[in-house]
Amino acid sequence: MDFEEVVRKRRSIRKYKEEVFPEEKVMKALELAILAPNSSNVQTWNFHWVKSPDKKKKLVEACLNQSAARTASHLIAVTADGTAWRRSQKPLVNWVRSVNAPKIVIQYYEKLIPVTYTSGIFNLFAPFKWVTFFITGLFRPIMRGPVTNRDISDVAVKSAALACENFVLAITSLGGATCMMEGFDECRVKKLLKLNSSTRVVMVISVGYEGERGTWGPQFRLPLSEVIHIW
Ligand SMILES: Cc1cc2nc3c(=O)[nH]c(=O)nc-3n(C[C@H](O)[C@H](O)[C@H](O)COP(=O)(O)O)c2cc1C
Repeated sequence: MDFEEVVRKRRSIRKYKEEVFPEEKVMKALELAILAPNSSNVQTWNFHWVKSPDKKKKLVEACLNQSAARTASHLIAVTADGTAWRRSQKPLVNWVRSVNAPKIVIQYYEKLIPVTYTSGIFNLFAPFKWVTFFITGLFRPIMRGPVTNRDISDVAVKSAALACENFVLAITSLGGATCMMEGFDECRVKKLLKLNSSTRVVMVISVGYEGERGTWGPQFRLPLSEVIHIW
């Protein structure tokens, strides 16, 4: 399938066939998911593929028993953790050094990443960050964040959402169907997957083969003229 075909074929499927979608294809799509662009390449995402039947049953319940979850072959919870830059900082520093990246890039990974992605316990550093951005911003353009831990978490959520899109497009290109879901009880999902307090569950994605009446009808979008603004 070419790109346009994949994009047009992908739909949110609420009812899957009983036939199980192959695990190897799910793994292939996960490999492609992590090639998504992500903030500073710190890869603050995780993919929890819930295979255990007992856990899967609980995850379906946490997804409010939606048929998109109930009838799926596979469920993957995609999470974002703003503190997970710590996991990638050292490998990234080694990598930028090994490829002889410009000095400024090496310094960015060594010095600036920890400052950018930290706001301290109870956002202790947030007022200092805010004042610095505000004063500098009076004289030149500057990024105004992330300031608080929530801002840092939002950055991680954006990147994880892009990985979700890569994943669903990859599954579509491999002949499967998906549904992204934010209709779930986050507290229950976090408890089930033993996630720490800084982690957010961005989406639970269901995978399978499209069943009969898998969608409610043809795809609906607002006209281009309402959403595209040319200045
Ligand atoms: C962030 C997000 C959350 C969503 N949550 C749900 C959900 O909980 N249940 C559901 O059936 N569909 C969910 N959807 C699917 C949307 O309803 C769907 O993408 C939209 O209606 C457009 O339909 P299409 O994907 O077939 O083009 C979600 C989609 C996104 C991007």
